[in-house]
Amino acid sequence: MSSEKPEIPNSLNEHWMPFSSNRDFKENPRLITEAKGVYLKNHQGQTQIDASSGLFCNPLGHGREEIINAITNQLKKLDYAQPFQQGFGGSFELATRISKHTPGNLNRIFYSTGGSDAVETAIKISIAYHKAKGQGERFRIVGRERAYHGMHIGGTSVGGMVNNVKTFASVLMPGVVHMRHTHLPEHKFVSGQPETGAELANDLERICANFGSENISACIVEPIAGSTGTLVPPKGYLQRLREICDKHGILLIFDEVITGWGRTGSPFASQEYGVTPDIMTMAKATTNGIVPMGAVACKEEIYDAIMENSPKGAIELFHGYTYSGIPIAVSAALAVQDIIEKEDIFKRAKEMSPYFQKGLMSLKDLDAVDNIRGYGMMGGIDMKMDKKPGAAGFTTFKHCYDAGINFKATGDCLIIAPMFICEKKHIDEIIDKLRTGITNYSKSKKN
Ligand SMILES: Cc1ncc(COP(=O)(O)O)c(C=O)c1O
Repeated sequence: MSSEKPEIPNSLNEHWMPFSSNRDFKENPRLITEAKGVYLKNHQGQTQIDASSGLFCNPLGHGREEIINAITNQLKKLDYAQPFQQGFGGSFELATRISKHTPGNLNRIFYSTGGSDAVETAIKISIAYHKAKGQGERFRIVGRERAYHGMHIGGTSVGGMVNNVKTFASVLMPGVVHMRHTHLPEHKFVSGQPETGAELANDLERICANFGSENISACIVEPIAGSTGTLVPPKGYLQRLREICDKHGILLIFDEVITGWGRTGSPFASQEYGVTPDIMTMAKATTNGIVPMGAVACKEEIYDAIMENSPKGAIELFHGYTYSGIPIAVSAALAVQDIIEKEDIFKRAKEMSPYFQKGLMSLKDLDAVDNIRGYGMMGGIDMKMDKKPGAAGFTTFKHCYDAGINFKATGDCLIIAPMFICEKKHIDEIIDKLRTGITNYSKSKKN
């Protein structure tokens, strides 16, 4: 990385930052100026290890020449092609390559511009499918507590993280019902899938009994609840959801925006847990986080039903985005596909997972730590609550940042999601720096 002194903007006032404590940040900014491989550099010139792959989106590392070259070449040749009623070859090639990795026959790929759009698309496709099958009364969507499905109205409605929901209660989508989350008190310090809790899936059966299964369009879950802090599904839980959906003709949607593209060691969590949904979302790592892009993979029969419901020549689904599968995003995603193949990325993630999980659990002895969970290349460390929820998490994050490690904290949970290109020495560095940051946090409380 270069040793030039980075510039700090003259004013921080105008940019209203997303999901940030704007006032706190502007008093004491944290600006990232450079990124290469697993490392970042901040405006103070400090090098940090990126322990969350950005926001779970850069698992192949920063500054990948292959992706930069692919984007540059694409932009020189064709910078934009409108995606409605016309297109360009790359988006079709990419869909074919994505469908080689999706489970079952989820081979019909609809592009979005990110995860939130993918979730809206998945919900709308479920509604359109039932309508096409003559079951337009299926309007309800079942979500789950502690879920994160992006920040559009549909995703906010089916999501279940209270701070994301409460301000917007008056505008949420009607007809949404939530199952309980899967985190039980006995799941403390469990690495991998908990043995207990599969029966929580029966909440879906109760919702069917209470609201009428004939009114329910879809049930949407993250196979591993990511943003809330890595809640790993209990053994048998996803299988049970699948059975209940099949019994009642409800579509099962897996939101794999975080878990997709290798986070569990398999291409998708669906394959890792042996449960095939009807619809699946992906985003983030699809382009290694470099260009906004998401996608929804659907079973062929869903696509077929929606096609057959419209006369030939008509638009079959009135839905899409200006930036659905545009050249710059597609070129990045195709380069990602090449890297996945060339570097056997899923295998690499799978092989590194036990080492990472062991390292994570080694932090159990720290007094300030309340719980640790994890699966594959993702994990959550719950800090013991301080005066109010979120205070311990945010203060620890800042101590870790100063110690040279960067990640995302949600509430009191530190979310760790290393890059798949990490070597053992990088995992060791992540764990060592977490220990330093958490220890410094504890010391600061004693002073
Ligand atoms: C499971 C899940 N769904 C949807 C989203 C929203 O994605 P985006 O921020 O790209 O809109 C996220 C983002 O973290 C996510 O984790």
